[in-house]
Amino acid sequence: MLAASDAFPVGIFLDAERHYSDLLGQVRKLAADSRVATYLVGGPVRDHLLGVPMHDLDIAVVGSAPALAQKLADSVGGRLTVHPRFGTATVRTPEGSRAIDFVTARRETYARPGALPDVEPGTIIDDLGRRDFTINAMAIPIGGEDSALVDPHNGRADLDTGIIRTLHPNSFQDDPTRIFRAIRYEQRFGFRIADATLADIEAALGGGALGTISGPRIDNELGHMISEAAPLPALRRATELGALAAIHPSMPTAAHWDRLEGWSSVPPGAPADGRKWPACWDAALFWTLTADQVASSAMKNPYRTRRARYIDTLKHRLSDLTVQGLTPSEVCALLDDPSSENFEPYALTVALAFAEPEAAERIRRYLTEWRDVKPLLRGSDLLELGVPVGPGVGEALTALRKARLDGVTNSRRDERDLVLQWVPRDGGRSRQSAN
Ligand code: CTP
Repeated sequence: MLAASDAFPVGIFLDAERHYSDLLGQVRKLAADSRVATYLVGGPVRDHLLGVPMHDLDIAVVGSAPALAQKLADSVGGRLTVHPRFGTATVRTPEGSRAIDFVTARRETYARPGALPDVEPGTIIDDLGRRDFTINAMAIPIGGEDSALVDPHNGRADLDTGIIRTLHPNSFQDDPTRIFRAIRYEQRFGFRIADATLADIEAALGGGALGTISGPRIDNELGHMISEAAPLPALRRATELGALAAIHPSMPTAAHWDRLEGWSSVPPGAPADGRKWPACWDAALFWTLTADQVASSAMKNPYRTRRARYIDTLKHRLSDLTVQGLTPSEVCALLDDPSSENFEPYALTVALAFAEPEAAERIRRYLTEWRDVKPLLRGSDLLELGVPVGPGVGEALTALRKARLDGVTNSRRDERDLVLQWVPRDGGRSRQSAN
C-alpha cells in the first residue's frame, strides 16, 4: 500500500477504475483546461484505497463546482442539476446510470445542532475539515501535475487500522445523521468505531440529538442502512448503541434481530427481485411498532402508514393462521392486503420468522402459489355472460378466484358454469324488469 506521503498515481488509478475512467478522464481534462484546482474526494478515495469498487464519483472544486459540472455535462451530453444554496451540482450521464457529484470546496457552520449547515467557499483543507470521518476526509488532486494524497486528518492511517473516527467532538451534534453513517461504515468494512467517537455517539444520543433533525432525514439514513449489502450487522449495532430506541422506544431490540439471523441470504418466499429486498428490511425495521405509533412518529408518511396498518393486521392474524382446516381462499382472505400496495411479500417475509410452523407453511404457500391466483375469466367475459355492469363484476371475480383457489373450478368452462348459476338465464333482464 502507498504511504500517505507517496505521490498518487492518477494514471494507474484511472486504469484500475475502468467503470469511471472515461468520465474521470474528461473531468481531469476540463479541470486542467480551466486551471481550477479539482480533487476526487470522500467515498471514492476511500474505496479506491481500500481496493473495493467505487460506486460514485465525488469531485471538489476550489472555484465554481456548477461551472465545471456544466462543462462536463456539455462535453458528455449529460444532464445537469445545480443546488445553488450549497454550490453543488450533479451530472448524470446520458444513459443515466452514473452520477458525478461536484461540490464547491467550502467551510461549514451550523447555526444550531441538527440544522442544515451555512456554507461559504473555502480551500480543499477547509472542505476536508467539514467532513464526517477521517477515512472520508481525503482528496486526490486531478487535472494538475501534483497527485499526492491530501490527508490532513490521517485518514489513511485509520483506513489501514480500520478505525472510524470523527474530526472533532461536536460532529454528531452538528449532524446527527452521522451516527448512522458511523455504524454503516463500521459494519460494512469490518472496522471499529474509535472509543472517543463511540463516547461522542452515546453523548449525542443521550442528549436527544436525533430530535433535532427531521423524520425524513432519519428515514433517509435508515434507507441507506437497509440498502447495505448486509444490513443485519448494522441494524444490530444501531440497536446495541441505542440509536434505534432513540428514534422510537418501540423499535426493535436485539431479540428481534436474532429471529432474522437467517436473513444473511434471501429466505424462501421473499421477492425474487433483489432490488426489492430492502423493502423486507424496511418491514422488519418497523415490525415492532403499532400502526398508531408509526402514524404519530416523525417518520409518518401515507405510504409507511398504510404498510404499518397491514403489518398490524398481519401480526394479529398469525394465530388465526394456525387454525386447522383452513382452505386456501381462507388463507388468502387473512393475508391479502386490502390497500393493494403489493406490500404482502415484504411483510410476509418478516412474518415467516415469527410465525408458528403451521402458519409459516401457509404463508409460504400463499407467497409461492396462492397469492397470484386469478380467475380464468375476465371482467369482459362476465359482462358477456350477463353479469350487469357495476360492483357485481368485481364481486363475481372475487368469488371466482375463491372457487379456483379451493379447487371448486379448474377451467374456463367450470367458471362459466358457475357464473351462469349466479346470473338469471335472460342475462338479468327479468330482475331489471321486476324492479
Ligand atoms: N459527508 C459528511 N457528512 C455527512 C454526509 C456526507 O461529511 N452527513 C461527506 C463525506 O466526506 C462523504 C461525502 O460527503 O464521503 C459524500 O457522502 P456520501 O455520498 O453520502 O458518502 P460516500 O462517502 O460516497 O459513502 P457511501 O459509500 O456510503 O455512499
